[in-house]
Amino acid sequence: MAQERSTQPQIVRFKGLGPGFWPVTILLFVISVALGVYWCVGDIDWLMPGWVHPVADRTVDVDDLVKFMSVFASAIMVYVTGYVVYFVIAFRARPEDASDTIGVPIHDSPKLEFWWTVLPSILLAVLTAWSIAVWYKIYFGTGAPALTTEVVAHQFYFEVRYPGLKTGVATNSEPMHLPVGVPIRLLITSADVIHQFWVPEVRLKTAGVPGLVQNLNFTAEHPGTYDITCTEFCGAGHSVMQGKVTFEPVAAFNTWLDAKKTAAAAAGAGVSLAGGDAAAGKALFASKCSACHNNPPTPFDQKLVGPGLLHITDDPAHPNLVDGKPPTPENIGAILQNGFTGDIGAMPNRQANGLTDKDIANLVAYLVSLK
Ligand code: CUA
Repeated sequence: MAQERSTQPQIVRFKGLGPGFWPVTILLFVISVALGVYWCVGDIDWLMPGWVHPVADRTVDVDDLVKFMSVFASAIMVYVTGYVVYFVIAFRARPEDASDTIGVPIHDSPKLEFWWTVLPSILLAVLTAWSIAVWYKIYFGTGAPALTTEVVAHQFYFEVRYPGLKTGVATNSEPMHLPVGVPIRLLITSADVIHQFWVPEVRLKTAGVPGLVQNLNFTAEHPGTYDITCTEFCGAGHSVMQGKVTFEPVAAFNTWLDAKKTAAAAAGAGVSLAGGDAAAGKALFASKCSACHNNPPTPFDQKLVGPGLLHITDDPAHPNLVDGKPPTPENIGAILQNGFTGDIGAMPNRQANGLTDKDIANLVAYLVSLK
């Protein structure tokens, strides 16, 4: 009588966790600990600039949180991928196995399921409480700030306003300055679209949102000059919306701020428009103003970021400038000098645009020649 083939699937040869499970477990443990030590005491400045020499108190808070997350996240990654690879190899199909061979059927493991629910829950609860505590310090600070500055995002620069300084500092033409060793509060908003103010080395980032003022609180501790970058796509100039912040001792900061105040007072005086050279103004317009105004100049309604400037002095549909004043050379010069903010948008002032008296005279000569 021919032997009948069993209808029961055949069971694989191993019961339990397979050969080599414990050596593999020890190996994964050693790798996890090594990675954990690396995150805590290793030099990962290549990944997180300022890791070794934190530049502000909040940098330390954020990095400690990152270290905690990295230690557990890398351990979880090592164990999960390590065991997946191990089990795939240990319980692989062998050439001699029958085609209907299956593994040992396993149903439920209450003990295992209990622990793989409880441990990650505890981890996430700790992470939540810790994150909220750090966020609270960033948003509300740990005491009254010694210096409060306003950061207004524009397309495409950050304007920083200091107490007692009439004109803002625009980060596309010069660094913002902050003193070290005193609590600082930055109030961040936007004049046009949503931007994102980020100083990577301080780890602090917040959105500049029109109509909303957000806080960043920290104490700078390590003098130096660090990058500011916008990390929210905010228009054609987003990629160039970068600047610098200089942390310096309080005395140097005060000297800088006083010099800015003196310069702002001097710049408040009118600029002489005599001797303006339209050809030089045209060249300057092409290199500078064309970032926001169509070049060659177009009629008013053909906007780029700002309005078209053709016929600025003789457009019957727009008899006045955007500030409502008649289009005289002096009034055009005043907008170039002081900038403009209104429904149509915002234009930086002369400091932000880096315009000398001569530049303003040349630009006015060019603009009034656009008939
Ligand atoms: Cu501002 Cu991107």
